[in-house]
Amino acid sequence: MSEHFRVQGGARLVGEVSVVGAKNSVLKLMAAALLAEGTTTLTNCPEILDVPLMADVLRGLGCAVDIDHDKVTIVSPPKPNHRADFASMSKLRASVCVLGPLVARCRKAVVALPGGDAIGSRPLDMHQNGLRQLGATTGIEHGCVVAEAENLHGAQIWLDFPSVGATENILMAAVLADGTTVIDNAAREPEIIDICVMLQQMGAKIEGAGTSTLTVHGVQSLQPTEHRVIGDRIVGATWALAAAMTRGDITVLGVDPGHLNLVLEKLRSAGAEVTTVTEPQQGFRVVMDGRPKAVDFVTLPYPGFATDNQPFAVALAAVAEGTSMITENVFEARFRFVEEMMRMGADARTDGHHCVVRGIEKLSGAPVWASDIRAGAGLVLAGLCAEGVTEVWDVFHIDRGYPQFIENLQRLGADVQRVSAPPER
Ligand code: EPZ
Repeated sequence: MSEHFRVQGGARLVGEVSVVGAKNSVLKLMAAALLAEGTTTLTNCPEILDVPLMADVLRGLGCAVDIDHDKVTIVSPPKPNHRADFASMSKLRASVCVLGPLVARCRKAVVALPGGDAIGSRPLDMHQNGLRQLGATTGIEHGCVVAEAENLHGAQIWLDFPSVGATENILMAAVLADGTTVIDNAAREPEIIDICVMLQQMGAKIEGAGTSTLTVHGVQSLQPTEHRVIGDRIVGATWALAAAMTRGDITVLGVDPGHLNLVLEKLRSAGAEVTTVTEPQQGFRVVMDGRPKAVDFVTLPYPGFATDNQPFAVALAAVAEGTSMITENVFEARFRFVEEMMRMGADARTDGHHCVVRGIEKLSGAPVWASDIRAGAGLVLAGLCAEGVTEVWDVFHIDRGYPQFIENLQRLGADVQRVSAPPER
C-alpha cells in the first residue's frame, strides 16, 4: 500500500522540537565499527529507515547488529566478509562507506555499486584514486568496486573537490595504513569531525579534523568504542526554515547552532529573530512575525550553505516577498523537485545550476511527488504554506532521513497526517 502525507496548509508552527543524531553521521560510524574487532556502541541514533538498511549491509559482512531505539550495537568479527552484495548495497547510497574499512581490515573489498540517485551522478573516482594512492589496486568489475592491497601505505592525497564520501573512505583506510597520510582539500563537514572523534577514541591518530588538511598516522589496530552521534544539522535546518516559512516560533534542541551559522544568518536576513539556546540542551530558537523577505542562497561544501538544505531554501523563496536566486554547486540534478513546487503555484525558473524564484503570498495545495529525502521535506514545508491540501507521495524517501517527522509536525501544530491509500495517477 502506497503512503502519502496529507498536509493542510495554514498553521503557524509553534513549540519545541528535539533533534537526534545525524543520518549522515550514524551510517558512516556504523561502517567505522568494521575497523575494530569487538563491540561498538552508538547512541543518539535516529530511528530512520536507513539505519536498519545499513545494519543489513553490516550483517552481510559478518557483523551482529542490534538496534534498540536510539542505541545501535555492532559486533565486528575477527575476519569480516569482504563482499558486500547488490541486494543490500542498492538500498542506500551511504553503504559505499564500507569500502575504506574493508580495504583496511581485510586488504580486499568487493563492494556492489549502490546505483544512481535522483540528485545527480555520484561517481566514486575520488574514492578509488585515494585508495590507489594508499597502495590498493581498484577497478569496477561486474557492477562492483573491487579493491585489493597487500599493504596499505601512507600517501599525500589531494582531492579535486572536498567530497564527504571520498574523505571518509580514504580516512577509514588510512587509519590502518603504514605511515602517514595527508588528505588535502578534505571535507570539513561536522559529520567528518564526528567520525574523526570516534576513530580517535578507537585509537586512531588523526590531526586536523574540521580543517581542509587531515593528517593520519596509521596504527596497527583499533579498539571498539562507545560514541554519541552528533545532532542532525540538516533536520535542524528543516525546522528552522519551517518556523520562518509558517511565520512561527520554534525552539530546536539537540543540535549545535554553530553547525547552522549560515542558515541562521540567512533567516535573520529574511527577517527572523534567531537566538541560541543552551538549556536544557544546546539549540536555537527562530521566531518570524511577518512574511519572509527574499534572500539568495548558494550551495557549497561546509561551511557553505549545504546542498541538502537547498530544497528548503527554494520553498522559503517561493513564499517570500521579492525575488531570490538559488545557486546549486554540488549536485547537478538537485532542482528536479522544483517542477513539483511549480505544481503548487511556485513562480520558479531553473536554468542549469541556477533557480530564480519570485515569491508569491500563498502557494496552492496539490498532489506532488518526493524524489529524494530533502526534496520530500521541502515539499512538506511548501504544503504548510499552501492554501488547501497538499498530498506528498513517495514518502519513503522522507522516512529514510526524518525520525517522527509527522508526529513532530503535529506537536508543533501542523495539520498533517500519514495516509495509506493507492496513488491516483
Ligand atoms: C554526502 O553525499 C551526503 N550523503 C549527501 O546527503 C550530501 O548531499 C553530500 O554529502 C554533500 O554534502 C551522505 O552522507 C550519506 P560528496 P556524498 O561525495 O558523500 C562529486 C542527503 O540528502 N564526487 O560530497 O555522496 C559528486 O558527484 C544526502 O542526506 C565526484 O565527482 O557527497 C558531487 O557532485 C544526499 N567523485 C560532489 O562531488 C567522487 O568520487 C559532492 O559529493 C565523489 C564525489
